[in-house]
Amino acid sequence: MKSKASFKSHPVHPILVSFPIAFLIGTFVSDMIADISGNNSFWNTGYYLVIAGIIMGLIAAIPGLIDYLFTVPPKSSAKKRGLKHALVNVSHLILFFIAFLIRRNDNPNTTLILILEAAGVILIFVAGWLGGTLVYRNQIGVDPRYAEAGKWKEAYFEETKEKIKVADKDELKLNQMKLLHVGSKRIVLGKTEKGYVAFDDHCTHKGGSLAGGAMICSTVQCPWHGSQFDVNNGQVKAGPAKENIHTYPLTESEGNVYLQF
Ligand code: FES
Repeated sequence: MKSKASFKSHPVHPILVSFPIAFLIGTFVSDMIADISGNNSFWNTGYYLVIAGIIMGLIAAIPGLIDYLFTVPPKSSAKKRGLKHALVNVSHLILFFIAFLIRRNDNPNTTLILILEAAGVILIFVAGWLGGTLVYRNQIGVDPRYAEAGKWKEAYFEETKEKIKVADKDELKLNQMKLLHVGSKRIVLGKTEKGYVAFDDHCTHKGGSLAGGAMICSTVQCPWHGSQFDVNNGQVKAGPAKENIHTYPLTESEGNVYLQF
């Protein structure tokens, strides 16, 4: 088993984005006031705000990229939304950077700067709407699990045809789940009243991570839109999902739980 840091549910990115949003919108407002009033001190304020905004935007992009790569479930609606969110954010940073380069000229075209910044502000609102959907609907950066779900557990394994030891027999408590990364596969190990079960982490509706949901009485519920699956045979118990999930055989011996493909 390889050990890696867990990237589940950290709110760093949603918190950090407040800074570039405030600084870049502040740049546009400051430059507008400077243009209308002719007061040069607002123009200087805009100059420093845009530098701070671009730097903070680049810093906020780091946890954003980590979320995109490691937290957002693969092949899901959130992955597509996350890509659009990233592209829109990069676009508004480019617009503000071009406006910044223009303002450094001896005789800058202030109208062009304001047009670029206004377009950047519109894109910030679009990115904010996409980002808000990622947080509130897809629960990226929040922990959606219920109070008794136990400590988040995640483990990495090489893909192999051999059986893999995935847990000690007493590692999970009742209804607790553990996310297994086996090569490129994401499999959930869960403990039910009848014993251990293993099933795909991928909800067949829009790709929500079932490991982040709730499992009670051998039923797992997707955290995104509430589809429910029987964890013993993978059958859909409640929609909107229509397709069953795949389940995997497990064996137990000498106090260990093994996954077999
Ligand atoms: S992604 Fe919609 S219910 Fe799971």
